[in-house]
Amino acid sequence: MKHLLSVCDMRDEVVHLLDLASYFKKDKIDAVLKDKTLAMIFQKSSTRTRISFEVGMNQLGGSALYLSTNDLQIGRGESISDTARVMSRYVDGIMIRALHHKDIIELAENSTVPVINGLTDLEHPCQALADMLTIKNIRGNFNGKLVFVGDGNNVCNSLLLICAILGMDMVVACPKGYEPNETILKKAKDIAKNTNASISVEEDVYSAVNSADVIYTDVWVSMGDEDEEKERLNVFKPYQVNKELMSYAKDDAIFMHCLPAIRGQEVTSDVIDGEQSVVIDQAENRLYAQKAIMYNLMKD
Ligand code: CP
Ligand code: NVA
Repeated sequence: MKHLLSVCDMRDEVVHLLDLASYFKKDKIDAVLKDKTLAMIFQKSSTRTRISFEVGMNQLGGSALYLSTNDLQIGRGESISDTARVMSRYVDGIMIRALHHKDIIELAENSTVPVINGLTDLEHPCQALADMLTIKNIRGNFNGKLVFVGDGNNVCNSLLLICAILGMDMVVACPKGYEPNETILKKAKDIAKNTNASISVEEDVYSAVNSADVIYTDVWVSMGDEDEEKERLNVFKPYQVNKELMSYAKDDAIFMHCLPAIRGQEVTSDVIDGEQSVVIDQAENRLYAQKAIMYNLMKD
């Protein structure tokens, strides 16, 4: 793995990365990235991604630079390729949260140091790795069915790929027109042929969540979709994860959300703050998953 732009880039290493993340969770390991620097470029807001990368880098003995595109020359039109080539001379890795996935591809093509996708409109691979660490810690394996309810967005796309790789069944319950990315869905189905995972998309949310082991949702209006807000809030209403919907899942099903959440929209307070919810564990696990990713990509 040279860069981590998509879950597909860690296809052969997911199990190893999960083991490494568990190791980082258990043991405080010092200074394996001593004197390394990670540049963190943000075109959009972040709480978890920014803090967990920065804290993770500090704990591994390195340092992280927070760079908002408002402050970089890239915000005034400097090319992505020049930015990548210049930054490669200063730092040992670049994490980027970008509006458009094509921009991180261009950044990676021109960078001589590893590039890590910290979320784009297409994927959120670091989140997916932390989510599988959470499922592994709670359930012990990837048997069973994960149902993603709502918008077939970046988080959903990365979950499809990682579930396919790890052999976990996944159903996406979404309204027509909000299905996951077609190419990613096809790729996930192809990968699933080798791992015997079942990957599908359904419009009927009640049939999808029937006997689910994991119910996962995300916001109805992702960053970048704000101009569609009115229409989306209307279309997604039947896809709210509430107590009634949870009652169709298995009794010991867990509720997951990448956060930030909007209570009263995609999920009700009684579910996200209830005893089936593991959302804060997911957020904590971002730290260990990212340490595993940075170690894997940036160690000497
Ligand atoms: N889940 C996640 O990526 O959160 P942030 O947007 O706060 O980084
Ligand atoms: N789908 C959300 C995820 C935020 C972590 C977004 O892109 O805004």
